[in-house]
Amino acid sequence: MTEGSLQWGGRFRSAPDPALLAFGSSFEDDLLLARFDLETSRAHVRALTGGEVIAQDTGAKLERALDRVAAEIDDGSFAIWARKGSFEDIHGAIDARVRELDEEAGGWLHAGRSRNDQVATTLSLYAAARARDGLARVTTIAAALVTRARSALAEGSVLAGTTHGQPAQSILLAFWLQAAAEPFVRGARRFASVEKDAMEAMPLGSGALAGSCLPLDRLAAARYLGFARPSRNALDAVGTRDALFSCADAWATACVPAARIAAEIVLWSSPLVGYVRIGDASASGSSLMPQKRNPDIFELVRAGTQRVLADAKTAWSASAAVGLSYHRDLQECKQSAISAIERADGILAAFGRAFADLEFDVAQMERRTTLGYTPATDLADALILKGVDARRAHRLVGARVALAEEQGRPFETSDLRALGAQIGAETLEAPLDARSGVRAKATIGSTSPESVADALDELEKELSVLAGAV
Ligand code: ARG
Repeated sequence: MTEGSLQWGGRFRSAPDPALLAFGSSFEDDLLLARFDLETSRAHVRALTGGEVIAQDTGAKLERALDRVAAEIDDGSFAIWARKGSFEDIHGAIDARVRELDEEAGGWLHAGRSRNDQVATTLSLYAAARARDGLARVTTIAAALVTRARSALAEGSVLAGTTHGQPAQSILLAFWLQAAAEPFVRGARRFASVEKDAMEAMPLGSGALAGSCLPLDRLAAARYLGFARPSRNALDAVGTRDALFSCADAWATACVPAARIAAEIVLWSSPLVGYVRIGDASASGSSLMPQKRNPDIFELVRAGTQRVLADAKTAWSASAAVGLSYHRDLQECKQSAISAIERADGILAAFGRAFADLEFDVAQMERRTTLGYTPATDLADALILKGVDARRAHRLVGARVALAEEQGRPFETSDLRALGAQIGAETLEAPLDARSGVRAKATIGSTSPESVADALDELEKELSVLAGAV
């Protein structure tokens, strides 16, 4: 242990057990918090000088030491230095390095500060930054989906839409792609609100739990960091991790649509379905079966999302077990939340790359629309429009499905004639193929080409507003 590794000691007779110190350390996971902790320290220097707790030149010396630590963090030498010690966390390590670099000024950096308000502030800054990154990540994915939807719309590509995995009604491929994009746009909105909330109340200046007797200039610190205001209850400020956990939630939730799309792609990429071909850059082969082209990345996205969801939930539930104020449990929660965020980022990045590498087999999709009597609902709608009530229409079309199935054929114009005759109508018109089926849809938000075109326009507008917020 290097001299000064610990930030306490006066009241202890002997050193702590190194094995227990190691057990209690989150230093390695904390490394990605280093730049945020430095910012927190710079803000605290302003709180100290602003309140005249320390002289301006001591503040300047502390700033210089922090600059030096920043450079050491960038070139990797700080981590090497810190690993020679046994630090509980990044906060203690940076403080120790500052004290080592400037013995005299260094002793003032932690005046009126506890690691409790320090870690809470650092985590809020990290949460805000990662929410901003998340916003960029999901808007990029959504924009790529919208671009693909536009070209699928121009081609009029159709497929059998499913519910329960069974052929249901024909839809435009553009409509499916739009459906894939929508949850990422909702995710972007969530990230925007997480970022805003994270930068609302600054914990720094709360001390350990009760505030400080030192006249810290909290307003100056909040201004420097970009928080809307200093927190208004020190006990709450040191004990809450809402910003971090909401950020983890936003990331985990953003992975859910990726996992669901991935589940569909795994199915679609099987030659038994043949809707998509996984590109060479994203497919995996088999070590034994020479013909295989496996959708591994999509499977990892699917399973990885479960891990991320679990980590985000662990963060919340472990914190639910402790009373107000700081408890060391919050360190474990921190690690779960950070792991969720960092893993989710990797998942979404991989998803975006692998999705871009997909090739849709639109001819195969269209061929498959003749299976499963997908025009049935449209036939029933045609009967309803002729004044037949919904239950009767359902029964009449159901009987035609049974008959056609028996005869081993899809719907034909003869079915329209027969249905027309059954209800005493001269003619009955209804779409029998997928392309006319989608065109026949009349509601806002439907799979009709007009509706999808309007929806894509709206999505694009919303995306550019959201992207502007990055
Ligand atoms: N290592 C702790 C964490 O990351 C911060 C220190 C909190 N204070 C304490 N008294 N142990 O949550």
